[in-house]
Amino acid sequence: MSGKAETYARVTKEILSVLEGERNDIARMATISCLLHEAFEDRIWTGFYIVDPEKPKELVVGPYQGTLGCLRIPFGKGVCGTAAAELVTQVVEDVHDFPGHIACDSRSVSEIVVPVRNDKGALIAVLDIDSDKPAMFDATDKDALEHLVEQIFVVTA
Ligand code: SME
Repeated sequence: MSGKAETYARVTKEILSVLEGERNDIARMATISCLLHEAFEDRIWTGFYIVDPEKPKELVVGPYQGTLGCLRIPFGKGVCGTAAAELVTQVVEDVHDFPGHIACDSRSVSEIVVPVRNDKGALIAVLDIDSDKPAMFDATDKDALEHLVEQIFVVTA
C-alpha cells in the first residue's frame, strides 16, 4: 500500500469511529471535511456541495474546510456540477483544461469530485477536494473516497 492509501485507511477508520450511530448528514459532512482536510497536505479545500431541496438541479455549499467556496453551482457546470449531472467521480489533473471550471480560489489546480448518494441511491451531495498543485489525485483517491462516502451515507444509513 502506498503512503496515501495507508493514510486513507487510517482516516476512514477514524471517521467511521467518530460517526458511529450519527445519522445527521450535516454532522457527517462536517466531520468528514475536517478529518480528511487535516490528514493530507497540499489541499486548499475539502468539503461538500449539497443538492438544494428547493432547487433540485442546483448545488449549494455545505460543510467545508479551507478557503472561501462559491455558494451555488448549477448541475452540469464546472467539475462539481459535472459530477452531479453525470453521477460519476471527476478526477482533474489541471482545472485550467476543464471546460467551464469554476474558480472559487484562483490557486486551485487539481481536483477530485465524488458523487454522494444515500441508501436509496439518490444523489444528496458531492464531495469536492481541491489542491494548489497539479495532478494530486488519482485512482487511489477515487477508490478511497468512493468507499468512504458509501460506508457513511449508504452502509450505515
Ligand atoms: N472548482 C469547483 C468549484 C468549487 S470550489 O473550487 C470550492 C468546480 O469547478 O466545480
